[in-house]
Amino acid sequence: MAKPTTGWQAAGRDRFRPVIETMGLSPGDRLLEIGCGNGVSVEMICKACPAANITAIDRSTKMTERAVERNRAHVETGRARILTAPLVGLRLEERFGKIFAVNVNVFWMKPARELEVVRRLLAPRGTLYLFYQPPAGSSVIELQKKLRRNLEAARFSVAGEHEISASAIVTSCTQAKAG
Ligand SMILES: C[S@@+](CC[C@H](N)C(=O)[O-])C[C@H]1O[C@@H](n2cnc3c(N)ncnc32)[C@H](O)[C@@H]1O
Repeated sequence: MAKPTTGWQAAGRDRFRPVIETMGLSPGDRLLEIGCGNGVSVEMICKACPAANITAIDRSTKMTERAVERNRAHVETGRARILTAPLVGLRLEERFGKIFAVNVNVFWMKPARELEVVRRLLAPRGTLYLFYQPPAGSSVIELQKKLRRNLEAARFSVAGEHEISASAIVTSCTQAKAG
């Protein structure tokens, strides 16, 4: 069996399958994606769970334009909302049961302000999912340690850490609850 390689840039859209499977989508789910890039994850979530509703943000206009273009039908029906905005300063009235990010570096770097916003937007008993598909040779354990440290410093509790090897790529998932 081929050894899985890491590195999301070389992978296709299948790299989002472990993301979707890990979150176990249910009808009625309200999701927030931070750093949606060109919106492939939004498209796949809308397909996987037609009764879910997703808001996706990215600070890059170029990315959100692509994401809107890709998901025009879902945006028009209101199932998907795509906003150009940095996480810090994001003001939304609603709360989300599942907030997730894929390959968004800030959470293992200096995320104190970002995690305060996540805390505000997370529904009671909601879960934050941080997914990374690190480049070959980098340590998933070290990455998870940094995430745990940052989350605990922001009064989140880590509810799970695991790795999924699928589609020739390793995906690390850290799940956290607001403490
Ligand atoms: C490495 S890309 C990953 C895109 C997508 N999640 C994927 O896996 O293909 C990170 C994305 O997050 C966005 N981003 C990074 N920090 C952000 C922040 N603080 N608020 C909103 N978007 C952010 C970037 O603009 C970029 O599009």
